[in-house]
Amino acid sequence: MAVSNLSILDGGSILQLDFDSGAAMRFHALWLRDNSPDTATRDPGNGQRLITMKDLPAETIVQSASLSAEGIEITFAPGGVSACYDPDWLAAHGYDKARSAQLLPEHAESWDAALTRQVPSGHFPELCSKTPALRDWLSHIRRYGFAKLTGLPVESGNLFKIVDLFGYVRETNYGRHFEVRTEVNPVNLAFTGLGLQAHTDNPYRDPVPTIQVLSCLENSAQGGENMVVDGFACAERLRREDPEGFALLARHSVRFDYAGEAGVRLQSLRPMIELAPEGHLVCIRFNSRSIAPLTTVPFGDMPAYYAAYRRLSDIIDDPAMEVTFKLEPGEAFVVDNTRVLHARKGYSGAGNRWLQGCYADKDALLSKLSAIEAAS
Ligand code: FE2
Repeated sequence: MAVSNLSILDGGSILQLDFDSGAAMRFHALWLRDNSPDTATRDPGNGQRLITMKDLPAETIVQSASLSAEGIEITFAPGGVSACYDPDWLAAHGYDKARSAQLLPEHAESWDAALTRQVPSGHFPELCSKTPALRDWLSHIRRYGFAKLTGLPVESGNLFKIVDLFGYVRETNYGRHFEVRTEVNPVNLAFTGLGLQAHTDNPYRDPVPTIQVLSCLENSAQGGENMVVDGFACAERLRREDPEGFALLARHSVRFDYAGEAGVRLQSLRPMIELAPEGHLVCIRFNSRSIAPLTTVPFGDMPAYYAAYRRLSDIIDDPAMEVTFKLEPGEAFVVDNTRVLHARKGYSGAGNRWLQGCYADKDALLSKLSAIEAAS
């Protein structure tokens, strides 16, 4: 963006840029100095900042500013540091703008049962050989919080090949991966033939696993379809229908725990609906199996808290919110466990159902996607 005029305001503590488009943006002198593009402030190799707050006097002002063929030349006082700023970079990093209280984080799009008609999916051989296909599949996960995968080799451990597409396995006390099949003496309800309410996994871990992969190796049992529910869409609906209840679930932490095997006592203390300070959704934790007795909610709020918890549970159970699909051998799905709840319908003992699951980290997945986008 071309800049037509510069104005030093408020004794030098603010610099205003007037763009040709008619838009104007203000920047504080401290902010500009902190983000100087000169090689003494930013390492030209890795881009990391080389100064700390002690190099940034609180009384920093813009002493002079002018337009040149290279960009915007700014000299600061005290210290006399000078740097040349790219107007496009400043325009892209401007913070002098109106804010709207968005509940959904950037890139997220909420969904309901209508998405059943076009379940986001990718074909594994294509994801391995074609970068645009991998980019599209990863962006499905960023946008919707889940995606299916077809065309996997039907062999034990194939889920690691999925994780290799974007990151690394997060190992837990359940192992590098876990088996999901009927067991005679289950230590966890996920290993029986019962249907399960939609839930997020392992809220008793802190940090919670951010990505879950579930890969199907056998599925000849009756039923046992997989179901996913957008926790962000449920939170949006709760806020619309019961704003006070939404606020209660966001305001109070819940203790989640798991002590289902010897030598393991996992605990976390986090809200069911976690919001960023800016107000957007960060994480949904919903798993009735692992909520410890509620002691963190004040006595006077407990009835309303239970009412809000029940309302959220009803929304999650509403078939209008769920996307259901049956995995065939060689198919898998990946969920953002900070957002999308998963479940399976009940299944009968006739035939076999065998899935393998593992956890991975979302930051690696988003990093891979951003790197592909930056290169294309
Ligand atoms: Fe689960």
